[in-house]
Order: sequence, then structure tokens, then C-alpha cells
Amino acid sequence: MEYLIEVGDELAAKDAIKLARGNRILLWRGDFRNALQLLAAMKRRLRRVPRGTSPADTFRRYRQATTERSRILSRVQVELGPGYTLTLPHAPDITRACRLAFGDASDNRMPLTEILGALGADRWRTRGVHVPALQARIHPHYGVFAPTRQEYVDLVAEAPWPRPRTALDIGTGTGVLAAVLAKRGAGHVEAVDIEPRAVECARENLARLGLSARTTVSRHDLLPAGKADLVVCNPPWLPGPAATPLDAAIYDPGSRMLRGFLRNLPRHLSGHGEAWLVLSDLAVRLGLRAGTEALIAAAGLRVLDRLDIRPRHKVSRDDPLAEYRAAAITSLWRIRV
Ligand SMILES: C[S@@+](CC[C@H](N)C(=O)[O-])C[C@H]1O[C@@H](n2cnc3c(N)ncnc32)[C@H](O)[C@@H]1O
Repeated sequence: MEYLIEVGDELAAKDAIKLARGNRILLWRGDFRNALQLLAAMKRRLRRVPRGTSPADTFRRYRQATTERSRILSRVQVELGPGYTLTLPHAPDITRACRLAFGDASDNRMPLTEILGALGADRWRTRGVHVPALQARIHPHYGVFAPTRQEYVDLVAEAPWPRPRTALDIGTGTGVLAAVLAKRGAGHVEAVDIEPRAVECARENLARLGLSARTTVSRHDLLPAGKADLVVCNPPWLPGPAATPLDAAIYDPGSRMLRGFLRNLPRHLSGHGEAWLVLSDLAVRLGLRAGTEALIAAAGLRVLDRLDIRPRHKVSRDDPLAEYRAAAITSLWRIRV
């Protein structure tokens, strides 16, 4: 049972956490900027994650801690007027961002973290992410995996080109890899994703890049019917449950997408066709799944070549998985039947 209490500028982070842990919804009545400061202070207090007895145990604790942190922070909520209006002092205009993220029908109360997520996503969507491999910007939508780290895009842009007439991009997200394939000269690229938000986002990006005539985007679970000369997939790279659509781009329960992709691949590759599986080995380093080569072999497929790239981004000191993230290698596995 949750209880609602009204809180304001005088509330300290320590007390806010205590109240939130005691199942209180903290309805913020103070200044919007002070609410942001409160959330930041709560995050700092909640950022420590105890190390486990093994890499897999540290990962399990990390996920537990991040889920619990989101739950606690989501208890700081604000009251909304019709059409996502916020009347707190210094509150920004949230209408457009929330409409794009959550649709037209608004609740009369929302977690502040969700509103901040929508505002952040709207900024990315408007500004876009520059992708050097495309010499263009990709505009991510709310809840869609953004190509902010681009090692994997470079792998796809630089791998030996098999001159495919047809290509498939499985789990297209923003459509960034479909765009790279089309720009490299694939005759036609069919891109699919299980998330409707990703489908809309990829369509919009490919249209903006002038690639609509040579690409199609549709909603599909794993591989669509038919065969292609090149099948590309950058699946979620960590096994585990996903709470949000964005989580579902990173976490995949039981590596369902990875295993399903490999299992179904032989039926979707043309005779001389090639598949490119783009995957980080972080899960292997954490002891969460078997090595990628073993999974490929178990699906009756053979590895033609492997191109590796190291992460270029900095890892946070507070992240208990930092050493594993820093050492992780992303590979493009060239696979044939
Ligand atoms: C790591 S993201 C990659 C996105 C994009 N290809 C890129 O490289 O930026 C994984 C994508 O796979 C999608 N996905 C997850 N499970 C899927 C499934 N069973 N079938 C199709 N797409 C799936 C997610 O929605 C997400 O967009």
C-alpha cells in the first residue's frame, strides 16, 4: 500500500529516501529546480553497489541496486494539469516531450524521473547524434537505443563488403546500421525491430537520409520471411529481464534474441550469403553466458572471420562492473552456413 504525502523545498535527500523506502509517494510542491537537486542528491546517496563474490554475483547485485534505485527515485512525483502541464515555479514546458514519449493521454501525476527521461530524449531527438560513418546525424526517439558509442557502427562500416543485393538488419533500433548498409551500396535493406517505437524512429531516420526507396522497415520478432545476401544483427548484449523498451535493447532474457537469430539464420541466408553478428563479450567476461564462438558452432554455423574493437568511452569509477566494461571487446563475427 502506497501513501501520498506532500513535500517541498525543505526536504533533505536522506529523509526523502527514508520516506520512499517506507512506501510513501512524495508529491513535490516546491520549486522545480530544487526537485532536480533533491533527485541528484538522492542518486548520489544510492549509487554505491556492494561487490559480489564473483563477476556474475557483482552483476546480479548491480542490477538489483539499479532496479531498487529507480523504484526509490520514482517515488518523487509531480502533479500534472491537462495535456502535460506543470505549474511548479521554474518548471520547463514539458508538453511536447511528454506527448512524444507517452502519447496524448496524460495521468494527473507522474514520477519526475520519467519526465526528465522524456525531456532528455526530446533533446536527443531534436539535436540528433552525429555518426561519422554516415557523415550525418541520427535522431533517436524516446525508448530507442541511441548510437552514442559508435565502435560497433565503425565495424559495420569497415568490414569487407560482400556486395549484397539484399540485406536484412535485425533489431534496427534507430536504423543506423540499415543506413550504413544502404550507403555502402546494398541493393535493398529490410530492417525490422520488435519495438514499435524503433520502427517509427528507423523509418524517420532513413527517410531523412534520403534512403526510403532502398529500405523498408517493419515490426517483426527476429528474422522476417525470405532470404538475403547479408544479414546483420546487433542484439542486446546482456542476458537478463528488461523493465523498459530501452532496457530491452541492452538486456535479453536468456539471450533469446541472440540464440533465436543464430538458430534461424540458415533459413534466411542465400547460398553465398554472409551474416554479421555484432556483439560485445561483456556477458562472457561476467560469466553470464557461453562464448560467442561456441554459440555459433552450436547453431551449425561457421565463422569466416572476426573483427574486434575496444571500447573508446570512459567508464564510471562508481560502476562496480567498470573493470569488465573497460576490458570488453566488441566483435563483428562474419558467419556462413
Ligand atoms: C542493441 S540494440 C541495437 C539497435 C541498432 N541495430 C543499433 O545498432 O544501434 C538491439 C535492438 O534489438 C531490438 N530487439 C530486441 N529483441 C528483438 C527481437 N526479438 N526481434 C527484433 N528486434 C529485437 C531492440 O528493440 C533494439 O532496438
